[in-house]
Amino acid sequence: MAAYEHPAFRSALFFSASLVLQTFASPNQTPGFDIAKFKKADIVYKDVAIIGGGSAGTYSAISLKDKGKSVIVIEKKNRIGGNTETYIDPATKTPIDIGVQMFHNISVVNDYFNRFQVPLIKYGADADPNAQPVNAQYDFRTGKAVNVSFPTAEAVGAAFGKFAQFLAQYPRLNDGMFLPDPIPADFLLPLGDFVKKYDCEAILNTMFELDPALGDFTTVPAIERIRVFGLSLVEAVGTGVLTTAHHNNSELYTRAQTELLSASSLLLSSEVVASQRGQAGIKLVVSTPTGKKLIIAKRLLITIPPKVDILAPFDLSKQETGVFSKLIDVGYYTSVMKNTGIPDNVGIFNYAQDTPYNFPVLPKGYNVQTTRVPGLHQALYGTPRSSKTFPMSDDAVKADIIKGIKAIQKANPDKFNQTEPEFVFFSAHTPFYLQVKPEDIKAGHYEKLYALQGLRNTYWTGATFRAQDSSDIWRYSENEVLPKLLAGL
Ligand SMILES: Cc1cc2nc3c(=O)[nH]c(=O)nc-3n(C[C@H](O)[C@H](O)[C@H](O)COP(=O)(O)OP(=O)(O)OC[C@H]3O[C@@H](n4cnc5c(N)ncnc54)[C@H](O)[C@@H]3O)c2cc1C
Ligand SMILES: *[C@@H]1O[C@H](CO)[C@@H](O)[C@H](O)[C@H]1NC(C)=O
Ligand SMILES: *[C@@H]1O[C@H](CO)[C@@H](O)[C@H](O)[C@H]1NC(C)=O
Ligand SMILES: *[C@@H]1O[C@H](CO)[C@@H](O)[C@H](O)[C@H]1NC(C)=O
Ligand SMILES: *[C@@H]1O[C@H](CO)[C@@H](O)[C@H](O)[C@H]1NC(C)=O
Repeated sequence: MAAYEHPAFRSALFFSASLVLQTFASPNQTPGFDIAKFKKADIVYKDVAIIGGGSAGTYSAISLKDKGKSVIVIEKKNRIGGNTETYIDPATKTPIDIGVQMFHNISVVNDYFNRFQVPLIKYGADADPNAQPVNAQYDFRTGKAVNVSFPTAEAVGAAFGKFAQFLAQYPRLNDGMFLPDPIPADFLLPLGDFVKKYDCEAILNTMFELDPALGDFTTVPAIERIRVFGLSLVEAVGTGVLTTAHHNNSELYTRAQTELLSASSLLLSSEVVASQRGQAGIKLVVSTPTGKKLIIAKRLLITIPPKVDILAPFDLSKQETGVFSKLIDVGYYTSVMKNTGIPDNVGIFNYAQDTPYNFPVLPKGYNVQTTRVPGLHQALYGTPRSSKTFPMSDDAVKADIIKGIKAIQKANPDKFNQTEPEFVFFSAHTPFYLQVKPEDIKAGHYEKLYALQGLRNTYWTGATFRAQDSSDIWRYSENEVLPKLLAGL
């Protein structure tokens, strides 16, 4: 077969003649994997196949490429970047980051942005001091103003200090979900009880306004909040988080996309339809805009949300299904809106007068924030935790966002114009924040999850394995996952 002449194929240890015969000549095999059915140009040989070109997949592809390995990223959408999205206002060409905005000031972040020559600044460093946004609190169900007694800056600082002292007892938690055995009972306390016990309730509002989408904020097990707010982010909140100087986080992904495409290392608008993963390596049948391709790789790195339904084409083992079937998630949606009737300098956060810590009742909008473009606001929406991969339809979410804004307009005609809000951009980031119930954490979920690394030549990274935080995902991928994946490659 002509394909055997490919150098990557010749160098691949696992493609010994006997294995090739076993894998390709088995009478029971899925016909889709028959190498003879693919044109030579449609068979792709790489060291590593990477599923998903978001934060984790793009970082890993570039890192592996820089380490001399050949990669292929398979991305469902027609762009890479995943939850990093930038809306460019057509009239002013002003970019608005409507997904990922903030990064930690750590070497993995600085090195990555330097590599693509994308400058970083301290978040807010270039804000006009005379045009600070005014935050207001309303109940998105009734439109009524809510009185929230926010803690003072000193109280917030002191509370983060106490929280950091707690975290410092578990240094390995800063690298991933490496939980002590036995798991401390405090980790499983609902967050609202945890902050009472450690006298650090004043951390909650900051956490909520920076990163609301956990689903029912105060009932989430404390360890799930710690996952994002570990020592690295707590330090970043204290010293200042970073953002891109052009407020255009997609710049990095546009440059990475150009580089990966020119190295034949990226398939856009493509999805795996069948896979064989085993000791002999990886075979993937991928549906692409130019027809089906067969990918033959030594290792597989999966970065997409590992819900069992999403992973259906990946011939999951019983062990993998057992772990992933426990996952629950939330719906998280971002959008850009015009005609909100809300003044440009006013951002509105959803609070309730009658709930613990005034946090809102979900599913509902989290906020309608100011943007850098006059006439536009960014609206975020979230659902509670559930086992449904797609908890709400986009249309139902949009309708409820508009309902919330109109309720606020109607209840406060002296403050807001009575207009018909419209979406200029909408994006679902769902399923988001995959996690498990406290009893599953107690039963060793994270140990079982991490035990999957390397089985059947398959490795895993992304938010579910680390946290909904790009800086931590890159650090985890670089330090914990890629060294194992590279061993013996
Ligand atoms: C509104 C919002 C604001 C956020 N703000 C921040 C922030 O300020 N700082 C921060 O660090 N983090 C932030 N996050 C968290 C963010 O999710 C993570 O930083 C990071 O993007 C997660 O990376 P990931 O690679 O796991 O997932 P993603 O970035 O979502 O990437 C997954 C990729 O896989 C693709 N994909 C999905 N299914 C398939 C399939 N079957 N086949 C092929 N490809 C597939 C997707 O299209 C996507 O490109 C925010 C998230 C949202 C939604
Ligand atoms: C990042 O931290 C270093 C010190 O570790 C500091 O010198 C630098 O100014 C920080 N970068 C930004 C953009 O704040
Ligand atoms: C909020 O506080 C203001 C002034 O302190 C008061 O007039 C108003 O009635 C309060 N509203 C609610 C809903 O408690
Ligand atoms: C933002 O980045 C996009 C993608 O790289 C680019 O097309 C656009 O020109 C950039 N705009 C600004 C103002 O930086
Ligand atoms: C509200 O309406 C007035 C009068 O038409 C207009 O001048 C103002 O810009 C509007 N404000 C917002 C936020 O829509």
